[in-house]
Amino acid sequence: MSINLSSPWDVNTIRAEFPILHQMHHDQVPLIYLDNAASSQKPRLVIDALDDYYRRYNANVHRGVHKLSEAATEAYEGARVKIKKFINAGSKREVIFTRGTTESINLVAQTWGRANLKPGDVVISSAMEHHSNIVPWQILAQEKGFTIKYLPVTGAGVLDLDVLRGWLAEGNVRLVTVMHVSNVLGTVNPVAEMAKLAHEAGALILVDGAQSIPHMPIDVQSLDVDFFAFSGHKMVGPTGIGILYGKRHLLEAMPPWMGGGDMISRVRLDGSTWNDLPYKFEAGTPIIAGAIGLGFAVDYLSSLGMEAVHAYEQQLTAYALDRLAEVPGLTVYGPDASQKGAVAAFSYGTIHPHDIAQMLDADGIAVRAGHHCAMPLHDQLGCGATARASFYIYNTTAEIDALIEALYKVKQAFTA
Ligand code: ALA
Repeated sequence: MSINLSSPWDVNTIRAEFPILHQMHHDQVPLIYLDNAASSQKPRLVIDALDDYYRRYNANVHRGVHKLSEAATEAYEGARVKIKKFINAGSKREVIFTRGTTESINLVAQTWGRANLKPGDVVISSAMEHHSNIVPWQILAQEKGFTIKYLPVTGAGVLDLDVLRGWLAEGNVRLVTVMHVSNVLGTVNPVAEMAKLAHEAGALILVDGAQSIPHMPIDVQSLDVDFFAFSGHKMVGPTGIGILYGKRHLLEAMPPWMGGGDMISRVRLDGSTWNDLPYKFEAGTPIIAGAIGLGFAVDYLSSLGMEAVHAYEQQLTAYALDRLAEVPGLTVYGPDASQKGAVAAFSYGTIHPHDIAQMLDADGIAVRAGHHCAMPLHDQLGCGATARASFYIYNTTAEIDALIEALYKVKQAFTA
């Protein structure tokens, strides 16, 4: 079964740009890559940009006056400007290169959090968070003695904003830190509304955008978030590179985290002073190739248009949810397609998710199985693990049909 999607999305042209999609899996079956929430594949443009940097102008940035260093600096800072535009930050000084979402959140915890949080203060997170937005706050809370409260996830797989309102009204809340899109439920959290509520109560908001920025337009100014963290590798960019966006006045007031070269203004043996933003938070030789690659990833996604990306993926996800609903004994977690990102985590009777993933792999279909770094959420779902198919710009309805067929085969194998 196959449908014609209504959008004029030219998926074959897009697929042609991703070399990895054209290999035979296990040398036998075409690869069907449905593990995009874990990491996306890379288009030729990004692969070539990395190759070009290392072949033609590999050098350190901000340090040399020679031609190669100047070319590397120009490309590295050019990438920052591209990212600034992509998220509509007010200034390129608000765009800090990190190793990924995890490091971005840890940076806020270890600088803003360490400087500002004290006993009696409250940080509100949620029970659907990735471990990277739970553990950094737990580590800091052990030392600083503040309280963390976790917004409950309703049976419909969404956050209860009335609970948020109630906790904010109790006072002492300094920070709300939540994910934009759940990597398990796919829930798209109303972060603009949550930002408004947090600000009215005098709190800041940090948004983990790892699962939203690859899939939808992001405007940090219209969302009015204080911090926005994301990774390059889920948005067709390289691994090992990510971004922390922060409002300038907050970043200016925050002490540095890691010390070393580039983050200083003047070093004396009796003390040092710090460089301007964003360099204050970029100690040491940065991830130059990764940043340049991320800049090209942004070029690629911008050429498709993020509205179009979102529209295509919404249709694809709705199609996938309809087809998965046909499979007896299969339960998809989270809200319906209207409130959901391109993720379908599911259980399938009593078949263990790892067995499902292994059998699908034999058919060339890559999905993830496990707790997806969201153990508290899986505790609430009442299962230790789920299998998860997650979609991106190059996936097709035919691939979803192949997934459904393979799932029937899995069932047969386990009931034989
Ligand atoms: N956080 C990534 C995932 O959900 C790795 O798979």
